[in-house]
Amino acid sequence: MANILILGGTAWLGSTIARLALDAGHHVTCLARGEAGAFPEGAVAVVVDRDKPDAYRHVAAQKWDLAVELTRVPAHARGALEALSPRTRNWVFVSSCSVYADQSAPGQREDAPLLAPLQPGEAYASELYGEAKSGCEQLTTANRGGNALLVRPGLVGGPGDPTARSSYWPLRVADRREPVLAPYQDGGGYRQHVQLVDVRDLAAFLLHAGLAGRTGPVNAVGASVPLTDALIAAREAANTNPLIVPYPLSAMADDGVSPWSGPRSLPLVLPSGDDYAGFARRSDARALDMGLVRRPLVETFRDIISAEEPWAGRQLSSGLSGEGEAELIARRRPAPGAEAPHESIDGP
Ligand SMILES: NC(=O)c1ccc[n+]([C@@H]2O[C@H](COP(=O)([O-])OP(=O)(O)OC[C@H]3O[C@@H](n4cnc5c(N)ncnc54)[C@H](OP(=O)(O)O)[C@@H]3O)[C@@H](O)[C@H]2O)c1
Repeated sequence: MANILILGGTAWLGSTIARLALDAGHHVTCLARGEAGAFPEGAVAVVVDRDKPDAYRHVAAQKWDLAVELTRVPAHARGALEALSPRTRNWVFVSSCSVYADQSAPGQREDAPLLAPLQPGEAYASELYGEAKSGCEQLTTANRGGNALLVRPGLVGGPGDPTARSSYWPLRVADRREPVLAPYQDGGGYRQHVQLVDVRDLAAFLLHAGLAGRTGPVNAVGASVPLTDALIAAREAANTNPLIVPYPLSAMADDGVSPWSGPRSLPLVLPSGDDYAGFARRSDARALDMGLVRRPLVETFRDIISAEEPWAGRQLSSGLSGEGEAELIARRRPAPGAEAPHESIDGP
C-alpha cells in the first residue's frame, strides 16, 4: 500500500485518480479548496487555498510514495515542490500536449520544442495555458533533477467529461430524433483526426508509471483515428443508424459554428488551416512502451451513453442544441433524397 498525495483531487481527472488509487488499496490524501467538487470518499481531505502562504503545512511532515500534481499555475507548482519534494519518492506532474510550440507536424515525439515557460512571478491566464504548463514542467524537472514523470495528455474523454467534447457525439446519435447534422471534410487541408484518451486509462497509467518510478516526458494520448471513424464509433456505441445531413466543414465560419468545444460547436473538429495538422496525431510510442493500456473508443462512448443524461436537445458544454442543429439543417436545405446514411460522412 502506497501513501499518495494528490495536489487537486476534487475535479474530474484528479478524483478519478483518487478513486482508482483507493480501490487499489492505497492511502490517498487530496489537497484542494473543495470548490471544483467534493473530495473523494475515503480520501483524507486537506482543505487549503494554494494561493495562501504556508499552504502545505498540513502535509509537509509526512513521507509520500507518490505526489500527483494537477496544477496549471507555476507558483503553485513551485510552492509544492519546495515544501514536499524532499520527502516524496516519486513525482507525477499532469501536463498537457499544449506545451508543444508547434501543433502542425504529425508524429511529433516528446523531444519536440516547447512553448516559452511562464514563470512563477507571471500571472496565469487561460490563454497562456500551454506556456503555464511548460513553466510547471520546467520547475518540476529543475527541482527534482529529472526524477519526475511529466504526463502530457492530449484530449481526455469519458464519462463525466465536464467539457462535453467527448460526450456530445455519442449522446447526440443515441437520441432518436433525425436527421443528425454530421460534419464531413470538404476542400483541401489536412485530414481531421481524433486522439482521445479515456480518463480512466489515463488515471491508471499515471498511477502505475508514477509508482514504478518512471521519469521524463510522455505523451499520454489515445490512438489517433480519422474523425470519420470516431463518428462511426459513436454510432456503433449508440447502436443507431440515423439519417444524417452532411455538413461541410467549410460552412462553419459563415454559420458561426466553432470547432472543437463550447456551445454551438462541432466537438472534436479541429480548426481549419495547417496549424493543427499534428494536433491529434502525436507519437504515442513512449506511452505504450511505459504501459499505457487504452480501451477502444467505442467502449468509452458506450460508457458515456450509459452514465450520462440523454441529450434530448439540450445545450451541453460543447456541441449543438436541438434548436441550433435544426437551424443549421434548415440552412443546408438538403434536396429530397440528399440525406445519406451515416456511412457517407466522409464526404458527399
Ligand atoms: N481535459 C483535457 O482534455 C486535458 C488535456 C490535457 C491536460 N489536461 C490536464 O489534466 C488535468 C485535469 O485535472 P482535473 O480534471 O482534476 O481538473 P483541474 O481543474 O485541472 O484540477 C485542478 C485542481 O486544482 C485545485 N485547485 C485549483 N486552484 C486551487 C487553489 N488555489 N488552491 C487549492 N487547490 C486548487 C482544484 O480544486 P478546487 O477548485 O476544489 O480547489 C482541482 O482539484 C489538468 O492538469 C489539466 O491541465 C486535461
